[in-house]
Amino acid sequence: MKALMLGYGNVGKALNSLIRERSPKLGLDIKVEGVVTRRGIMLNQREDFHPDKEGTVLEALDLINPDLVIDVSSANYEDGEPSLSLYLESLSRGINVVTANKAPLALNFSRIMAVAEKNGAKVGFQATVMSGTPSINLLRAMRAAEVRKIRGILNGTTNYILTRMNEGLDYLSALKEAQRRGYAETDPEHDVNGFDAAAKLTILANFALKKPVTLKDVEFSGIKDVTQDKVKEAARKGKKIKLIANAGEGSLRVMTSEISPEDPLYHVDGVTNALDVHTDVQEVVIIGPGAGPLNAAFGVFSDIVLMYKGTF
Ligand code: HSE
Repeated sequence: MKALMLGYGNVGKALNSLIRERSPKLGLDIKVEGVVTRRGIMLNQREDFHPDKEGTVLEALDLINPDLVIDVSSANYEDGEPSLSLYLESLSRGINVVTANKAPLALNFSRIMAVAEKNGAKVGFQATVMSGTPSINLLRAMRAAEVRKIRGILNGTTNYILTRMNEGLDYLSALKEAQRRGYAETDPEHDVNGFDAAAKLTILANFALKKPVTLKDVEFSGIKDVTQDKVKEAARKGKKIKLIANAGEGSLRVMTSEISPEDPLYHVDGVTNALDVHTDVQEVVIIGPGAGPLNAAFGVFSDIVLMYKGTF
């Protein structure tokens, strides 16, 4: 199986290693034939990528004619490009897409899925929400139920900052730590103002609640007005301040909230994320790492494995 990869940063490099190391054991025969970055097209030469030629990702699509397109490029929330055009063109040719990039889906979920369905192609996007912790893929496994409401801690950077502030560290030092650990977005403003969590909530609302919403429909605010005093005040009451994303029952919003120990999200600290799914049958909570290059790469690789090896 031939793959074309868009983006080759920390996630792309970690993914390439996972593909090489784990594919044989899983019976997957997959080779990343080419990588496209801002510098152009790089072809796989003896398992290493070398700058070859100038060219766009659509030119690389024609050149490589892959079975699978992998997007690990960083999010462009202006218009989702060049990823959006790549997905639409690939899917219309029946080529599957697996992505860690939230922007195209948060902006154009319905359009992308309609093209995929029309052409019998698949889209994997586990890594867009909670990285390698099954959120989207948990919901795939829960398709027999009707999801009524979703709550979650969907941004690792802000949860890390709030946790460190609870331990006494100041906001800016905590943010710097999160950046150093590779949790934050290229523009960390997207983490701290709630935008990144809103993008993830948009994807979840489309997928789980079948609501054709886009990022513009989400009301969001972040953690910038959370002071050390407010964190301490919450702690005095036995509570914690968390950035909670909420969809369902007429709500689609991301905002901070003081939560108490009975809430399953209270115990979710550090870069850990959580998703609390309420269905017509049961409530399910999943907790796990929500950011970091290896986790994101693992989310992408999990999609590839599920897509090509199936579950049963
Ligand atoms: N910046 C994001 C976060 C990365 O902190 O959650 C994962 O999407």
